[in-house]
Amino acid sequence: MRIQNLSIQNFRNLEEVSLDFPDGPQLLIGKNAQGKTSLLESIYFLATSTSHRTRLTRELIRARAETAFIKADFISEGIPHTLSAGLDGKTRRFRLDGEVLQKSADLYGHLKAVFFSPEDLEFITGSPNVRRRALDLGLCQKNPRMIGHLLDYRRALKQRNAVLKQNSRSKDLGNLLEAWEPLLVREGAEVLRERASYSLKLLEGASVYYDNLTQSAEELKGEYRSSGTREHWKKLDDIPSVNALQESFLKNLRTHQERDQAMKTTTCGPHRDDVVLSISGASAHRYASQGQKRSIALSTKLAERDLLVKGDDNPILLVDDVTHEMDKNRCKRFFQNILSDSQVFLTFTEKTALRGLLDSCPTWTVEAGTVTPGK
Ligand SMILES: Nc1ncnc2c1ncn2[C@@H]1O[C@H](COP(=O)(O)OP(=O)(O)O)[C@@H](O)[C@H]1O
Ligand SMILES: [Mg+2]
Repeated sequence: MRIQNLSIQNFRNLEEVSLDFPDGPQLLIGKNAQGKTSLLESIYFLATSTSHRTRLTRELIRARAETAFIKADFISEGIPHTLSAGLDGKTRRFRLDGEVLQKSADLYGHLKAVFFSPEDLEFITGSPNVRRRALDLGLCQKNPRMIGHLLDYRRALKQRNAVLKQNSRSKDLGNLLEAWEPLLVREGAEVLRERASYSLKLLEGASVYYDNLTQSAEELKGEYRSSGTREHWKKLDDIPSVNALQESFLKNLRTHQERDQAMKTTTCGPHRDDVVLSISGASAHRYASQGQKRSIALSTKLAERDLLVKGDDNPILLVDDVTHEMDKNRCKRFFQNILSDSQVFLTFTEKTALRGLLDSCPTWTVEAGTVTPGK
């Protein structure tokens, strides 16, 4: 996958940008707060309609502007496409090859991208919520039909929670809750099975990269903890069938109905799941050093890249500021892993020694929201 042209108007501090990218890794160079991250963010936004920095559309639009626009001409599996996003304060509208995409589900899977950011550390240090979000973003890019299941699950959950809030003392509560069970259980089991499989594949890949990047004897492992079935799985074969998952999820929903009634919310299900990581048996969340956490984050992203490869079409890699804390050897190994990909965008704050490793790559200077070729 390769972006040939990227045009941006009024996205973050980028007022008017139009860039034709030659082949190979692209280096974006600029001091702090000039717009490097914003440029990568605009590409990820085209891929997923999300930003790692905000949920608010308003924040993505340049201050004092009413609307923002992003457009990429790109080649995917050998075929040229154009994807664009128009944002105003309230809405986001996407078009693929000129046709409006009606549902967010239709956006996923066209332009695929993996974002490497310093904030990836939160995948290890953050709350389960952060991990689920990261997993779902990768999963939906890999398997676009999952966005529909996730949205339907969320809808059923919202309705069931509304029933619990409004009718917690009603004698009829059991029946009212039951009305939402079929949808909740059906969509929940689908999400669970796919997300758990995706997570375990991701962890398996990450474990190999962790080995390669750290060249240490430590072993990165992980498991998926399902709150809806009260089970945890370490291997793909451990994950039950969708039917079995439906059955145990339903059973647990009913077992915990009193607790749900008291808490006025649904206390078990895929929306409460987590992935637990460990290094040589010790919880990474609790015990890993900062350096180890960074290596886990990087390994996980590299594994995400691998899961998004289709045939010989790679996703676009957006590598933001993640190398400045790595020593030269680790950087070298990281670059060896990514530089042969179809397209990689890397940001740097200055001309560091690392650039020696990337001498022949095209460079772009980012300054006060403008981007110009060369250094
Ligand atoms: N909606 C917006 N309108 C105008 N400027 C913004 C907006 N959002 C962020 N900025 C500013 O854009 C600048 C560039 O940010 P960023 O892309 O993170 O820079 P870099 O990655 O180069 O350090 C920052 O000064 C930031 O405050
Ligand atoms: Mg930045």
